[in-house]
Amino acid sequence: MSVETGIENISTILVIGAGTMGRQIAMTAALAGYATTIQDISADGLAAARAELEGWAASRVAKGKLEKAAATAALDALAYSTDLDEAAANADFVIEAATERLEIKTAIFEKLGVLAPAHAILATNSSTLGSSKVAAATGRPAQVCNMHFFNPALVMKCVEVVRHGETSDATVATTMELARRLGKEPVLINREIPGFIANRLMGAIQREALFLADEGIASIEDIDTTARTALGHPMGPFALMDMVGLDVIDFIAQATHAETGAAEDAPNERIAALVAEGKLGRKSGAGFYHYA
Ligand code: 3HC
Repeated sequence: MSVETGIENISTILVIGAGTMGRQIAMTAALAGYATTIQDISADGLAAARAELEGWAASRVAKGKLEKAAATAALDALAYSTDLDEAAANADFVIEAATERLEIKTAIFEKLGVLAPAHAILATNSSTLGSSKVAAATGRPAQVCNMHFFNPALVMKCVEVVRHGETSDATVATTMELARRLGKEPVLINREIPGFIANRLMGAIQREALFLADEGIASIEDIDTTARTALGHPMGPFALMDMVGLDVIDFIAQATHAETGAAEDAPNERIAALVAEGKLGRKSGAGFYHYA
């Protein structure tokens, strides 16, 4: 059975996963005035998220980009929990940004279907798994969709809202409006396709950049410089892959290739080798580039 949930029914948000994406999505919601809980099974992960968000808020205030009162209100609007049962019981809207492993995601959505109020919309931030894969487990497939944010989520304006075959019009409308209220510019994807819009565009640029580098046509520095100075991209494709995480880039390629089987979607060997060496990009101190 499906419940029509309008934006007026949304006042509390649950973000599952305190990682790079989850913590910034939660802060975005808190800044927009939503009572927001970040849930993670790891207490250490929650502590790291809290420390980063408090540091971020303090630096915004110091830079004069955020009023102190607004920073305090947002930090006060955030709750941290390891207990999914309790956190889900009060959620009007859930954004899952946990693991990309389907069996774990399915178990989370199955739990949400039981624990979250009947009107709650259950969205996944996944960039690789269409929500159709977890919708049936919830018992409320019409209230399930993808709501895909971009890294860094506090900055990037785009949110991809992806409907699956059974997502209701009300769920789409409410999710799009929620994204707007979070200060984002949502785009709608009418049918699931691996990579949605942004990762398909990014993948095409990355494939070409890797080809040019692998063939020795130009250095990665010069390819990145060209993307910035000729095309106006804020950062070049190699710097961007390092920021997103080479493990994430490799995982997206594996998942996309498993679904499409297309040769152009196959994971890149150079990236797989860097990942095997533990060079995951900025977060590990080295990837295509070295970081202090
Ligand atoms: N967290 C929060 N805020 C950040 C940040 C971070 N990690 N990095 C930068 N910012 C903020 C800065 O505080 C600054 O804010 P201000 O202008 O209001 O003071 C603003 O962003 C600009 O930062 P900088 O001046 O330090 O540097 P840049 O102007 O180079 O901007 C950038 C940094 C926003 C990351 C920009 O380079 C950019 O837009 N890069 C492209 C990012 C991109 O393509 N993201 C999508 C990745 S794909 C993805 O996420 C999909 C997933 O499925 C893989």
